[in-house]
Amino acid sequence: MERLTSPPRLMIVSDLDDTMVAHHNDNENHSLLRFNSLWEDAYRHDSLLVFSTGRAKTMYKKLRKERPLLTPDVIVTSVGTEISYGNSMVPDEKWVEIMNNKWNRGIVEEETSKFPELTLQAETEQMPHKLSFHVDKSKVQEVTKELYKRLEKRGLEIKIIFSGGIALDVLPKGGGKGQALAYLLKKLETKGKLPLNTLVCGDSGNDTELFTIPNVYGVMVSNAQEELLEWYAENGKDNSNIIHASERCASGIIEAIGHFKLGPKFSPRDVSDFLECKADNVNRPGHEVVEFFLFYERWRRGEVENCEAYTASLKASSHPAGVFVHPSGAEKSLRDTIDELGKYYGDKKDKKFRVWTDQVMATETTPGTWIVKLDKWEQTGSERKCCTTTVKFTSKENEGFVWENVQQTWSEESDVKDESNWII
Ligand code: GLC
Ligand code: MG
Repeated sequence: MERLTSPPRLMIVSDLDDTMVAHHNDNENHSLLRFNSLWEDAYRHDSLLVFSTGRAKTMYKKLRKERPLLTPDVIVTSVGTEISYGNSMVPDEKWVEIMNNKWNRGIVEEETSKFPELTLQAETEQMPHKLSFHVDKSKVQEVTKELYKRLEKRGLEIKIIFSGGIALDVLPKGGGKGQALAYLLKKLETKGKLPLNTLVCGDSGNDTELFTIPNVYGVMVSNAQEELLEWYAENGKDNSNIIHASERCASGIIEAIGHFKLGPKFSPRDVSDFLECKADNVNRPGHEVVEFFLFYERWRRGEVENCEAYTASLKASSHPAGVFVHPSGAEKSLRDTIDELGKYYGDKKDKKFRVWTDQVMATETTPGTWIVKLDKWEQTGSERKCCTTTVKFTSKENEGFVWENVQQTWSEESDVKDESNWII
């Protein structure tokens, strides 16, 4: 959160499973990849991305390995009982203290074990401030009422949340996704960085609280669960700041950005011809990079029409003395690298090949000179690689950006560190 010097333009707080990440009807992650390009292109530099998930950290890390998820600025895990910041996921110790208030895990364990209706979820889901069960939907009301009564008698203040028509979580009363968001907003406000707009996004029961926080926009994705829609019908219908999107998962989030007019809503992934799009003249070096790697993905998938015009345009925007440094350390001229692309046209056709950029950050080092840093991911089938890429651009008024140098190094997150088929 420290990287922004002024209040974020937009803060998105999104659930992961079945909201940001589609588990049905989208095995190519199309909607997530659309969101990713939009975020990196238009929002990363001045906005905040927060993921708020029911998953514990370990299960969140597993999902990151399986899906093309961006790196969030803040990650709220275990149904709002843990808050961590940045790439290294540094836990918020103050939040831990708040979670300890009127909470005793041992007592919760003891009391819940007296309910035969409750079946413990896997060990990986049990956390210091979250006990999770499965329960038959028809038993929820009765069990919840009784459990609240018994735990109150034992001096605890807890919260019970029912999600996905089957999961029941017991948390400290001060926990939950909504309370975690309220805490974050307060923290940002204290630092003079209250977001200009906040959009919360969810699909199930544990997301309900997000929609109750004052002054936020909300989107329930089209595939939202019954329990969230029921809550909306009873409590949210008059609130014009909440919509039930007509699109699924991450595409529903993009829909809401457009609906509430929160900023650009056009994902560069939806552009069919980047040459035509050049006319739009988006004046951001980060945009150049996002668009280039989308082009590169299409190139290797063999989906570019008008190849010669593209390579000519790329060459025209690369400095004649520009250098590309491959992660292996080998150096080549930028223009030769573009020429070599020809050999690889369509080599990843039908191979589930995807490229996405993460944490695109541009800095103007001297007037007219920009350094753009990003993580560039490539995935073929289930194998993926990441490298940190640094691009130096210069710009002249009304003449767009010139690629000066490109340097890549293997990223720690890379699974595979060979050089086969790695071009740019
Ligand atoms: C996630 C968690 C699970 C929890 C559920 C509902 O799926 O992994 O433990 O019960 O969210 O909050
Ligand atoms: Mg969900």
